[in-house]
Amino acid sequence: MSYSGKFKVAAQGIYSSLENIGGAKYDSKAKYYERLVGTETFNCIFWACSRKELQKFAATAILHSTGTLLDVGCGGLAQTSDLYQATTNDCTLFDRSLEMLKIAQGRLLEKTGTLPSNIHLLQGNAFDIPFPDNTFDNICSFGTIHLFDNKQDFVNELLRVLKKGGRFYFYTMTGELTVGRIFMKLLRMNHEFGEVWSEKQNLSLFNSAHLEVQSYRVGSVLFIYGQKIG
Ligand SMILES: C[S@@+](CC[C@H](N)C(=O)[O-])C[C@H]1O[C@@H](n2cnc3c(N)ncnc32)[C@H](O)[C@@H]1O
Repeated sequence: MSYSGKFKVAAQGIYSSLENIGGAKYDSKAKYYERLVGTETFNCIFWACSRKELQKFAATAILHSTGTLLDVGCGGLAQTSDLYQATTNDCTLFDRSLEMLKIAQGRLLEKTGTLPSNIHLLQGNAFDIPFPDNTFDNICSFGTIHLFDNKQDFVNELLRVLKKGGRFYFYTMTGELTVGRIFMKLLRMNHEFGEVWSEKQNLSLFNSAHLEVQSYRVGSVLFIYGQKIG
């Protein structure tokens, strides 16, 4: 899949589906955020979940799936850059923030100096994904659902572009444990997070006869995956 000619160029090697490429919320804090979430200490203290757990789950989507993959809110690949270096799947890394995509690109270039030809960087809005229904074999989104108040709209838009028979992989932070809940509520007061939801509330987002859903939780992190069956 090539985006040359389909989308405008936002920066070298990065395409954009947006009118306005600047001004994303994460642009100003991209570097700081990426350094923090890439540490074991941060994930263990605030989410009671190791990076290894996050990466193990991400590997099922990125390395052990087959076909095309869309990663929505990919960020700077703090947990996933090694997986994207290793996969041979055709992957679209999609984020609203150009600065995050630049960090992602930098991480991918670090090892070989060239961007793998199966990896595409695309700026866009998760609530208005610039692809028709049933486009991708797999979709994933890590550490994102909790950011939004309109969580159902977010999930529905991602599932819209997933093919029937395709697989989805999400993980999100929940308010199940005290430390994580307090942290999330503080960030919510600062307009960084959406409403803090429990495991049960998050799973209700996937209540549909068209989905086969499985889940498990480690600490505050809820892992949700499954298949679109109709
Ligand atoms: C908490 S970070 C997670 C990054 C990465 N998935 C990870 O696990 O480290 C959330 C990411 O979602 C992106 N994002 C936020 N709102 C978005 C939107 N409406 N459309 C696309 N990306 C969005 C942010 O720019 C940021 O990179």
